[in-house]
Amino acid sequence: MRNKVLVTGGTGYIGSHTVVELQNSGCEVVIADNLSNSKIEVLDGIEAITGIRPLFEKVDLSCAKECTEFFTKHTGINAIIHFAASKAVGESVVKPLLYYRNNLNSLMNILEAMKEFNVPNLVFSSSCTVYGQPDKLPVTEATPRKEAESPYGNTKTICEDIIRDTTKANPELKGIALRYFNPIGAHPSTKIGELPLGVPGNLIPFLTQTVAGMRAELSVFGNDYNTPDGSCIRDYINVVDLAKAHVVAINRLIEEKQKSNYEFFNIGTGKGVSVLELIESFERATGEKVPHKIVGRRAGDIEQIYADTTFSNKELGWKSEKSLDETLLSAWNWQVALNK
Ligand code: WQD
Repeated sequence: MRNKVLVTGGTGYIGSHTVVELQNSGCEVVIADNLSNSKIEVLDGIEAITGIRPLFEKVDLSCAKECTEFFTKHTGINAIIHFAASKAVGESVVKPLLYYRNNLNSLMNILEAMKEFNVPNLVFSSSCTVYGQPDKLPVTEATPRKEAESPYGNTKTICEDIIRDTTKANPELKGIALRYFNPIGAHPSTKIGELPLGVPGNLIPFLTQTVAGMRAELSVFGNDYNTPDGSCIRDYINVVDLAKAHVVAINRLIEEKQKSNYEFFNIGTGKGVSVLELIESFERATGEKVPHKIVGRRAGDIEQIYADTTFSNKELGWKSEKSLDETLLSAWNWQVALNK
């Protein structure tokens, strides 16, 4: 019997790439998304890659009634990957209640529906932001979480705890949280990729838009950090590699290989890369120059974070495969395709 997987936020950046990998692995996929930060045309891109158009429902999952209606209509779902959430760090500082209401209510509605409609398996989109600025690097799953740097990050911490406590109280439910480091790049087909609405906050879309002539210059937020070249260090993970980690996690739950009702894994490359090193990698991979200048630090930025991937490599059985150069080339090819 084919697995039927609900992907909430499935027309989003990581969600759409995960839908492709789920379909490639033989799953039937249904997407629930409120289209607040993505476009319905993403379904065309998914279909162009896999030849299969996923089922789609426009749903506000933070509304219990809409959530119940969805699960009443779409029966036979045996696993959920929950991406749907507000995710702009800066906006969350200005509008914390919007973030707590949307991100927490959506998850709680999903968990209630899992109990009511007998859906046992949940994979949750978490983030390395739960670690704050770690005292020791690289970060392992034993690294203690720290106070989040933003309300957005705090919703990830709280959601992890809600899943931990709910799966403990309801043994028929099982959850895995995947703590992403910095997802970047695009599908090699250039049919799907990151679609930032408005001025991009994240580094890669701003960089590719600058190289495409849509922005005057990339500002590098600080080169006076305590790092080799002074710029911040992150663990940039290819979005297709990240999508494949979700398929592995879903299969772990469906095949009942999990070791407890709630598990979490770091999903990174294990390699820290600075902003200036990333610019060099982009220029090497694409042959394009990145007009950039050093400016002051951005409030809320942590200095450096990158993953120790031993546990996800060994226990989960997943590891990243694509190089930074190849990943940055895919981001550029996507930007070129977008601008056509
Ligand atoms: C990366 C590095 C910036 C833009 C956030 C969230 C995380 C996840 C990914 C949601 C930093 C520098 C950036 C620019 C720059 N969020 N930078 N100039 O802040 O590491 O992570 O986004 O899914 O949870 O915390 O990502 O891409 O914004 O920044 O110099 O124009 O690039 O200072 O060092 P970040 P980012």
